[in-house]
Amino acid sequence: MQDPIIKVRDVAWIRLGSPDLDQAERFLTDFGLVRQVRTEDRLYMRGTGEAHHLHITECGPDRVLAVGFHADSEADLHRLAAHAAGASGVEDLNEPGGGKRVRLKDHNGFTMEVVHGVATVATLPERHSVLNTGADRPRLGQLQRIEPRPCQVKRMGHAVFSTPDIEGSVAWAHRHLGFVVSEHVHAEDNPDFLLASFNRADRGEEFVDHHIMMFGRHSRAGLNHISYEVQDMDDLHAGHDWLKSQGHYHLWGIGRHLLGSQVFDYWKDPWGRVHEHWTDTDVLNAAVAPRKLPKSQGLKSQWGPQAPQEFREAASV
Ligand SMILES: [Fe+2]
Repeated sequence: MQDPIIKVRDVAWIRLGSPDLDQAERFLTDFGLVRQVRTEDRLYMRGTGEAHHLHITECGPDRVLAVGFHADSEADLHRLAAHAAGASGVEDLNEPGGGKRVRLKDHNGFTMEVVHGVATVATLPERHSVLNTGADRPRLGQLQRIEPRPCQVKRMGHAVFSTPDIEGSVAWAHRHLGFVVSEHVHAEDNPDFLLASFNRADRGEEFVDHHIMMFGRHSRAGLNHISYEVQDMDDLHAGHDWLKSQGHYHLWGIGRHLLGSQVFDYWKDPWGRVHEHWTDTDVLNAAVAPRKLPKSQGLKSQWGPQAPQEFREAASV
């Protein structure tokens, strides 16, 4: 495999086209994001973390417009622009938050925008549960009370694409975004038939999320889902009840994934794009070797429901 052109630092945002900004904002607010800026035709939503925004809606046909990733430096943007086939030049991001970006098309023609220098903002107050467990009772004299409310999304976690040529997609992402494999899942009886590829940012000794980009083999290419980290288990459950009470479309959860170990909950936005909440991910670093597993030891829930067909079929374009 070729050396990577650059290694991105983290996932930044999703950019979606949606025909109705009011409807988009209602869903995203119930999902636990907070409006940062809304213009006549665009909506920028943030979390409690320092990112200026994590989710961009552009008024128009419902489309997956781009996934954003943070580069480590502006020099990396120039390197990417110079060496990635078909990449744009380094351009100014003429939108709230500013910064610079390079646009490029992935193996299936989806736009990836690699950015640097986007503004950060002051963090928002967060509520965290203190849990008394069988092993430890740190909550002394304090009552546990969780008000009905949306989740508090903290940051974006990952993007997942369905792809017919999974080997080609993985190779493209490794070359252009510098991911390393955390775990590969193959067919039960054929170790060479790759079904799913979980990739993380390569930050050496530093521990990072188990995956920021995953690919699943599918007959159609498309966005399977995007994912956001919430504060903790109570936050995830409170957010679940809130989304349900507001009549949103629940797809799958609550459960705990096997690979990545996240506690998950999946919802569809008004146009069917799948948005995930998760908490409690595995974090890995360079000392952890990539693993290869058959489907029966990879793609399942440790507890909670198994994936419905509708989730496996999700491939938004
Ligand atoms: Fe996910």
